[in-house]
Amino acid sequence: MYLKSIPFNAPAGFAVREATSNDVDALTRLWYQSFYTSHGFWQAVTPDDPVTRQWLNDAWDLGVQCGPSVFKTWVVEDLAKNGKIVAFARWHVPQADGKQDFPLPTYPAHWDAELTDALWGGMPRNRLDVMGTRPHWMFEFLGVDKGYQGKGLGYRLMEWGCKQADATGLEVYLDATIQGRPLYNKWFGFQDRKILEFPLRPDGFKEYYMMAMVRPAVLKAAADRYPTSEAVTDSNGFVWESESARQ
Ligand SMILES: CC(C)(COP(=O)(O)OP(=O)(O)OC[C@H]1O[C@@H](n2cnc3c(N)ncnc32)[C@H](O)[C@@H]1OP(=O)(O)O)[C@@H](O)C(=O)NCCC(=O)NCCS
Repeated sequence: MYLKSIPFNAPAGFAVREATSNDVDALTRLWYQSFYTSHGFWQAVTPDDPVTRQWLNDAWDLGVQCGPSVFKTWVVEDLAKNGKIVAFARWHVPQADGKQDFPLPTYPAHWDAELTDALWGGMPRNRLDVMGTRPHWMFEFLGVDKGYQGKGLGYRLMEWGCKQADATGLEVYLDATIQGRPLYNKWFGFQDRKILEFPLRPDGFKEYYMMAMVRPAVLKAAADRYPTSEAVTDSNGFVWESESARQ
């Protein structure tokens, strides 16, 4: 469930909208402009070749096809560049039964199998260990084009989901990259919970890790600002209690 009434505050000169299946090429291009350029680990785990690009396209599309009650995939457009997509974020909307399905296409045969399992299998394993089946928001992907970093786009994409979580008193979970971790801790109060280690590759990226982080539940007096009557019920028909019912 998410609250439609919580606005998205895009920085001046940018617009934010939900992604559609038509955006998958742009999202994948942006993956290479954000993750891929940030560390050799990402070059090893998502090599730049047509098969991997297609896999990423399919992964984005699977998320879009699940619908907005499961995944909210946001794209940020640069209004001065004819709406060029320069940032993305995918939020996993909390499900009443704590369901954490993370649909992914079949892994390409030429990928490093050990690294692949450590990343795409390791993230859901960490999440289950840390969160169990407690309903929570999960910040799944955040990427900002290298040429657009430091303009507040990542901050705004994170802020939207934290406001959603605060309106209903839920925790937020994420797997932080080395680059993303300071933003989450310093500005949004996320705490380290469990390291996600990857096999060493002495001849390649050498070493890399990610950090499972949790932002504790903060129930803000948000019911007035974000009326729960505008809530969107999730695909399981989960009905959320109003803030007044909690007090
Ligand atoms: C990590 C990443 C997403 C950050 O995105 P970004 O758009 O460059 O980050 P922002 O500009 O929003 O925020 C960074 C800075 O802006 C500041 N900021 C921006 N808007 C702000 C606001 N409204 N209020 C307060 N601070 C704000 C923050 O203070 C922060 O500054 P600091 O690092 O000096 O403390 C980006 O570097 C990236 O895509 N990296 C590669 C992929 C990756 O690692 N993704 C993270 C996955 S977990």
